[in-house]
Amino acid sequence: MSLRKGIQLLAPRLGDQGARYLAAPLCSSAASLPLPSSDDRSPVCSSCIPAFSRGFSSNSALAPTTSGLPPTQHVMKNPTNIIDYDEHSHERFAPGDPGKRAFTYFVLTGGRFIYASAIRLGVLKFILSMTATKDVLAMASLEVDLSSIEPGNTITVKWRGKPVFVKHRTEEEIGKAKDEDISKLRDPQADDDRTQKPEWLVVVGVCTHLGCVPLPNAGDWGGWFCPCHGSHYDLSGRARKGPAPYNLEVPEYSFSDDTTLVVG
Ligand code: FES
Repeated sequence: MSLRKGIQLLAPRLGDQGARYLAAPLCSSAASLPLPSSDDRSPVCSSCIPAFSRGFSSNSALAPTTSGLPPTQHVMKNPTNIIDYDEHSHERFAPGDPGKRAFTYFVLTGGRFIYASAIRLGVLKFILSMTATKDVLAMASLEVDLSSIEPGNTITVKWRGKPVFVKHRTEEEIGKAKDEDISKLRDPQADDDRTQKPEWLVVVGVCTHLGCVPLPNAGDWGGWFCPCHGSHYDLSGRARKGPAPYNLEVPEYSFSDDTTLVVG
């Protein structure tokens, strides 16, 4: 039920003062103007019509018509270029005023950038939630104390789930590794290209054939021997015999000082 209709029904029951009280918020002149009867088409007063007609109905649809037709039929049968818009919520530009399209697009574009940024943030958050966690990244590099490794010894450390061999080579072993004719090797690589300091050889302890862990200080070349299918690696970790197609991998490493190796 509309407010207008409600007041119309309540007016006889409330009496003059009650109806004025009800109409007061809608019509400042309600207290001084005659009150409507239940038969009246305008229940409060004629100056209240704009207040009641806000929304989809318009003044012209409620005002008395000159043709005697009901207002909606009168409007349809008498088209006019003078259109009475409801300007209660939106001020209307004067006819001929240039459009504000550029400003509207500017505001909309600004909002769309914010939406795009929020979507991008959400997508990145979701994708990055599947990447390595901080505890995994913290294990990405490994420090190895070299001070306790005697010349000729090899230690095995675990780095990113794989064994890494750190061999302290003697002068004799360095000489042997450097003297090899690399042109005859399956995976030709000079010893200098595989080490940063000649006395320290750092290689990943995974056989390049099918991934077994080779045994240190073994094999025909005194480096490593893979017991799975018999691959031999020399003192520089290069494949010399057996099915291994490549040399043992040299991981990324550096020396933070004379006695500390950082793998990764
Ligand atoms: S896995 Fe090492 S030789 Fe096959």
